[in-house]
Amino acid sequence: MYKKFFGLRANPFSVSPDPRYLFLTRHMQEALDCLTYGIQSRKGFVLLTGEVGTGKTTLINMLLELLREQQVATAFIFNSRLDKQQFLDYMMADFDIPHDSKSRSQGLIQFYNWLLDRFRAGETAVLIVDEAQNLSEELLEEIRMMTNVETSTEKLLQILLVGQPELDQKLKQPQLRQLRQRIALRARTYPLSLEETKAYVNQRLRIAGSSGRQIFDPASLAAIYHYANGIPRVVNLICEHCLVSAFADQQKVVHVDAVDAVVRDLDLGDENALADIAPPVSPVRRVPPAPAPPRPPASAAPGSKSDLREALKSLTDLADRLRESEPDLRKKTKS
Ligand SMILES: Nc1ncnc2c1ncn2[C@@H]1O[C@H](COP(=O)(O)OP(=O)(O)OP(=O)(O)O)[C@@H](O)[C@H]1O
Ligand SMILES: [Mg+2]
Repeated sequence: MYKKFFGLRANPFSVSPDPRYLFLTRHMQEALDCLTYGIQSRKGFVLLTGEVGTGKTTLINMLLELLREQQVATAFIFNSRLDKQQFLDYMMADFDIPHDSKSRSQGLIQFYNWLLDRFRAGETAVLIVDEAQNLSEELLEEIRMMTNVETSTEKLLQILLVGQPELDQKLKQPQLRQLRQRIALRARTYPLSLEETKAYVNQRLRIAGSSGRQIFDPASLAAIYHYANGIPRVVNLICEHCLVSAFADQQKVVHVDAVDAVVRDLDLGDENALADIAPPVSPVRRVPPAPAPPRPPASAAPGSKSDLREALKSLTDLADRLRESEPDLRKKTKS
């Protein structure tokens, strides 16, 4: 309703994680480099964690766009409260793998065969699981098993687990240590600094069509940073309410007292007490930058015979294990 009043084409502070609005801070860029590097070099498991509202889903939406541009097969699971069968069905549907079997074991074998076909063609597959802090231990173990189809140096399936810091805590449990040990790379998202918050708000306004005229004065931006503690989702929430309230008052510029009033009404509580989630003073883990878009590495191009043999062997082993664990299937294959 305020768009015309402020000369905007779109709503600049929508809470949906729209990659068009991506604001790449240094930490964000490092996280993106880390994820693309992990996928390119077929590391298997990569972990992305960060506090609520700090841009994890926004970042992976951007990554998904990059991967799809490169025709890398991707599956994106954002409902982490699925059971094992639902997870498999959903993943296969998202990978576009025809899957008619009612048996989980047969479905898995179909999936592993598909992975092998891709490997033979020199291609990789990427599974991204968002909200992974909610995954049951059983499902986490199932996901770990999925990376068991591998050569001696490379995983056939790349898995990116994305979640709030509770995910890290969960993975510290002794029963999940096998999975924890397989995590090859870790990336993080962080709240924005004051300078980043100012640039973030202005970039969003610009992308939404603003001519560059100042809508938030400098003191109001400092107040927004302070109240939101640099959490982009909270910044968006406050800014959106400030625009509505300024429009109601027919004010073309948002001043600090308007921010104070909005925050009082929003009753943000102490959810942003974030002393322990600010970025580290020293740079976060550096990984080699990934200038080229993700492509399978040369060594993965139509797999060498020995690599293929290894992958086939691990597939056969898995199929044997599955048959043992499912009497129905054993009967079918014996008859
Ligand atoms: N770097 C960023 N650039 C642009 N917008 C961002 C950025 N980070 C966060 N946002 C915005 O903040 C909001 C929350 O971001 P997002 O949903 O990606 O956070 P999250 O870390 O996935 O949160 P949760 O832990 O609740 O899933 C979204 O509206 C998103 O557009
Ligand atoms: Mg999210």
